[in-house]
Amino acid sequence: MPYLSLKPICVRMKSLCVVVPKKKAEPVRQRLMSKGILRKELQIRSDSQNVYFPVTQRVDLCYPVETKNFSEIKEQIKDYRVLVDLPDDLREYLPSSYDVLGSIAIVKVSDEVLPHASKIGKAIIAAQKAVSTVCVDVGVMDEFRTRGVKVVAGEKNLETVHKEYGLVFKMDISKVFFSPRLATERETVANQVGPGETVVDMFAGVGPFSIMIAKTRAPRIIYAIDSNPEAIRYLEENIELNKVKTVKPVLGDARESIVDLEASDRIIMNLPHSANDFLLDAIRALKPGGTIHFYKIMEEVELEDRMNEMRSLAVEEGRVMKLLARRKVKSYSPSLNFYAFDLSFL
Ligand SMILES: C[S@@+](CC[C@H](N)C(=O)[O-])C[C@H]1O[C@@H](n2cnc3c(N)ncnc32)[C@H](O)[C@@H]1O
Repeated sequence: MPYLSLKPICVRMKSLCVVVPKKKAEPVRQRLMSKGILRKELQIRSDSQNVYFPVTQRVDLCYPVETKNFSEIKEQIKDYRVLVDLPDDLREYLPSSYDVLGSIAIVKVSDEVLPHASKIGKAIIAAQKAVSTVCVDVGVMDEFRTRGVKVVAGEKNLETVHKEYGLVFKMDISKVFFSPRLATERETVANQVGPGETVVDMFAGVGPFSIMIAKTRAPRIIYAIDSNPEAIRYLEENIELNKVKTVKPVLGDARESIVDLEASDRIIMNLPHSANDFLLDAIRALKPGGTIHFYKIMEEVELEDRMNEMRSLAVEEGRVMKLLARRKVKSYSPSLNFYAFDLSFL
C-alpha cells in the first residue's frame, strides 16, 4: 500500500453532548472523565460561548444535553516502519528511533538502507503529523557540535521552532546544537536553582538550560556563553520569544569569557566531549560552596577514576569537591553513556 495514502481520514458522526459555557468547561470535563462517559474517540467541539462534550449517555449536571455532529479522532500511525515499502530482508535495518525537533525529524540510517532514505523519510512524515521535513544525520560534528544533515523527504527547510516544557526554541538544526533528549535533565538542573543566584551556562547553545531556569526560577542573572555566533543569534531570538529578562548572551570562548564575569553560584558545563578542559576555569569562577553541573561521555568503568581526577583538581585549587548527585542521562553508544554530575566546591 502506498504510504502517503495512509493519512488520517476525518469521519463525522452524531452524538449526545453536554453544552457547557466556556468558563465552566474544565471542571465539567473532569467530572465527565471521572464518570467514564466522555467519548474519547470524538473531538470535543467549541464555539465562541460553549464547549460541547460528546458523551455516551444522558447526564444531569444542570447543563443542556443536545445531539450534534462530531469528528472522529483517528489513531495516527506512530510506527513509520509499517509504512515503508522495502524488501523483507532489509526491514531489520530500519532505524528504531529518531529525534524530532519541531517539524523536523533527524534519523540515523545504516548503509544497508541508505539507498532507501527517501522512502523512510516519506513514511515518517506519513506517520507523524507534526513532521514536515526528514533529514538523515550524516554524523559529522564540528567545533560547534552541529550535525551534518541532508534532507531526504518533505520541505527543504532546516529552521524550526521546538517546544519543550512550554518553552519555544527557534533554531536552524544544521547551524546549532540542540538535543531534545536532554529535556528532563534541563528540568532537573533548573529545579535546583535558588532565588537570586548568579548562574553561568558555559556552553549555552540556543539557550535551553538558561531559558528554562530564567522562566521557572528566580535567578538574579544567567550569563549564557557560546562561541558559535549562530547559536547566540538564535539565543537572542529565543530570549524574546520566551519573554525572559535575566539571560545575558555572551559570544565568545568560555575560558576567555568566564574570567570577565562576576563569581557565580552555579555553572552548567554541557560540553560532554571536552568539558574536562574547562573544569579548572569553572572552579576558579565559582563562589565557595557553589555548584557545577558537569557532563561527560564515558564508559561506566571510568566513573571512579574521573571522579578522583576532579577531586584532585579541586584540591590543587585549595577547594574540596563534594558529589551531590550523579545521573546516567542517556546511552551514547553501546559502550558509552552520557553522565551528569552535580558537584559542590567548598
Ligand atoms: C553540546 S552543545 C550544548 C548546547 C546547550 N547547552 C544545549 O543543551 O542545547 C555545546 C555548545 O558549546 C559551544 N562551544 C563549543 N566550544 C566552546 C567554547 N570553547 N566556548 C564556548 N562555547 C563553546 C558549541 O557551539 C555548542 O553550542
